[in-house]
Amino acid sequence: MDIKDLLLEGLNSAPKYIDVSCRYDEQGSKYDEECENLEEYYYYRAEKHLVRTTVTDVVSNLDMPLKIFELGCGNTKKTQIFLDEILRHESSIEYSPNDVSEDFLEKTCENLFAIYGSRLKVDTMVGDLMKVLPKIRNYRGRKLLLWLGGLQCFPLNVQSKILSSIASTLQGHDVCLMSTDVTQSRETIEKAYMDFDEFKPFSKLYKNGVHVINRELKSNIDLSKFELEGRYVENKDVSSASYIQVWLRSLAQQSYVLETVGKTVTFGKGEKLLLHNGNGMSHKYTFEQLEHLFASVKLQIVKKWDNEHSVLMLVKRITS
Ligand SMILES: C[S@@+](CC[C@H](N)C(=O)[O-])C[C@H]1O[C@@H](n2cnc3c(N)ncnc32)[C@H](O)[C@@H]1O
Repeated sequence: MDIKDLLLEGLNSAPKYIDVSCRYDEQGSKYDEECENLEEYYYYRAEKHLVRTTVTDVVSNLDMPLKIFELGCGNTKKTQIFLDEILRHESSIEYSPNDVSEDFLEKTCENLFAIYGSRLKVDTMVGDLMKVLPKIRNYRGRKLLLWLGGLQCFPLNVQSKILSSIASTLQGHDVCLMSTDVTQSRETIEKAYMDFDEFKPFSKLYKNGVHVINRELKSNIDLSKFELEGRYVENKDVSSASYIQVWLRSLAQQSYVLETVGKTVTFGKGEKLLLHNGNGMSHKYTFEQLEHLFASVKLQIVKKWDNEHSVLMLVKRITS
């Protein structure tokens, strides 16, 4: 869906929401990078440590040569750990990164060229990963689909849809390498995600979707008339996951014109504008929940590497 339609769909819903994908314009991606350096943000550090300490074993489980397709690649800092290890054995590698943020992806690729030169043959795929997956399916050679720290961002019903699409993209010996969050401590999670100080990068990232509305739909929604709030929802049910809900609460009755579409959006006093679609975002899973989710879309975890906060999984399609 075009970003304007996605934003409008959210504003026309009850409750109103801004899809998580919409916050990742170039500025949003920079805030996301700033979050990586926060002391209290355990996940990024834990995942990077996991990748660093397991990369030799992970890569030894891949059949070379293959082409790497990456979904929601961000700044590729973790990906580079895999690329470095692969390039110790291979003279070059084909790499096709995807991200919804076009400008940020362009800068990431300039950076990759500066590091790897012609040893990395890059072709980019800009846009929503659900649009990109069918194109990846058409690639005839052996592939590795990489999706780091992405699954947990989407609502549960969307996760199933994306995983089904991944399953139908994997052919023969293709594999998908995925990582996600397995943290179980409420205290750790609340410390990382629930500090709503306006100068913190997470607050800026959460609110960035409103700047995207103001730019894309030509509006002037005033963030000072909203308060950022949220909660952590713990869920041990095997067919679910734990997650975070974050919203902007309207401090007054207020209306804004969306010039691009000639419509007005009204927020009642106390009304919530959710900063994600569906049940929530930043999901945290038990291993049983992950196995259940994958099995429901005919995917199987064939090998996993984990630590206290993150898990890296090699996933294949169940063919029988
Ligand atoms: C949490 S970051 C993870 C980035 C990177 N994979 C990493 O592990 O550091 C999520 C990334 O997915 C991208 N993204 C969000 N929604 C997307 C979508 N619908 N399609 C493709 N990329 C998306 C964001 O721009 C961002 O770079």
